[in-house]
Parts: sequence; structure tokens; C-alpha cells
Amino acid sequence: MPATDTLARSVTYALHARRSVRAFTGRAVDPALLKEVFAAAQRAPSGGNLQPWQAVVLTGAPWQAVKDAVAARIAMGRAGYQPEYDIYPKALTDPWEARRFGVGEALYASLGIAREDKRGRLAQFMHNYTGFGAPVMLFLHCSRIMGPPQWADMGMWLQSVMLLLVEKGLASCPQECWAMYGETVRAALAIGDDQILFTGLAIGYADEEAAVNRWPVPRAGVDEAIDWRGFGE
Ligand SMILES: Cc1cc2nc3c(=O)[nH]c(=O)nc-3n(C[C@H](O)[C@H](O)[C@H](O)COP(=O)(O)O)c2cc1C
Repeated sequence: MPATDTLARSVTYALHARRSVRAFTGRAVDPALLKEVFAAAQRAPSGGNLQPWQAVVLTGAPWQAVKDAVAARIAMGRAGYQPEYDIYPKALTDPWEARRFGVGEALYASLGIAREDKRGRLAQFMHNYTGFGAPVMLFLHCSRIMGPPQWADMGMWLQSVMLLLVEKGLASCPQECWAMYGETVRAALAIGDDQILFTGLAIGYADEEAAVNRWPVPRAGVDEAIDWRGFGE
């Protein structure tokens, strides 16, 4: 069990404090903190206790090598795409399409990038492939034999990691954009073809001053998600 002082920070606190951070300071991360986070995240639940998550955590030269490999692939243009899976459904309808559009607009607005500024938007998107300057990158993958229930398990592990990072004063940004160059990432990490890359997770200390980290991220009202039945009868 963690020490009592860390327990003072509640799950509710961590849920509200976590956000996808897209600008990091250069401050290095103590691997001892990460070890505590990953040890605790092993408590994440999974159907049948399969614990299907696997991750590679990188800093320094190995992290740079992935960035370099993906940059070379990006330079090939559209011919370089190697999507591991469809990141979104091909025909995304409302309300989901409206939410995706809305969060993109809010993100670009925070940076003063206008809707018609296609180059500015692309440049901001391409920052993804630097991990937004994060000193640590995690790549989350699992066996290709796994299906939707095990992918949900990976999500529970990922959220556990992100909340535990908050407890340690660290920030993160999940980044499925790396799956657009999955083969290159897996080759750079020497991960076998029997594995599928789900997402990256940029980890570091948030640049608290950066506008990109300071805008309110919208959420649908709880009534859009929860349908109460049989209460208050
Ligand atoms: C699995 C997953 C992958 C994501 N991939 C990206 C990504 O590639 N680039 C990015 O900027 N944000 C990415 N995000 C962040 C989402 O845009 C973000 O979680 C959502 O807009 C809600 O904002 P918040 O995390 O700040 O609360 C991803 C989030 C998740 C959960």
C-alpha cells in the first residue's frame, strides 16, 4: 500500500487534475517514480485476469531512435502510412463527430490557430511525433489475438497509469497517432509482428504556462451518458 500522505490525493482529485498535456518542460523523470506507478497499475482489472497490456518505456537515445525512424517514414508522405487499426469509425456520426470536431476547435483556438490555417493545424498535429517534448515515452501494445474486451482492459490500465502519474506530480498525453506508423514503431522497438501497437503515452512534467495546457476541455453532461432506471420509485 502507498504511504498515507499520497492517499490524501483522492481519485476524484486525480480525475479532475488529469488532462492531455501537449507541452512538457525538459525536466527529467526519476525512474523510481515510474517504477512505483507501473507496479501499482498492475492492480488494474481485466476480464479473466488476462492482464493483456504490454508496454515499452523509453527515454534518451532509444526514444530518439523511434522519433527518427518515424520522421523518416513521415517524409514519405501518404505512402508512409501504416495504420495498425482504424483510429475512428470510417463513418463517424453525431454526437461523436461533433465532440471530436469540438475538441479540435478548442485546442487550436487555445493556440490562436485559425480554422483556415491548414498549415498551422498540421504543424501543431505534427508535434505529436515529438511526443510534445516529453522526456519519456511509453508504447502500449498487446498480442494480435486479443479482441475488444482485452482492448478495454488496456484502456483501464492506461487510465490507471495516467491517474497514478498525477499523484506523482507528472503529466501525460495518450497518443494513438503513433499507430499510424505502427510497423515503423514496432520495428524500432524490436516488437514482433504478433503484437499490435495501441497507443503511445507521452510522460513528463507539464509546462503549466503553455496555453495549449490551459484551455477547458469540454465533456458531455452526465445525463448524456447515464440512463437511470428504477431509482427514486
Ligand atoms: C487512447 C487515446 C489516444 C489519444 N491519442 C491522441 C493523439 O494521438 N494526439 C493527441 O493530441 N491527443 C490524443 N488523445 C487525447 C484526447 O484527445 C483527449 O483525451 C480528449 O480530447 C479529452 O481531453 P483530456 O484528455 O485533456 O481530458 C488520445 C486519448 C486517448 C484516450
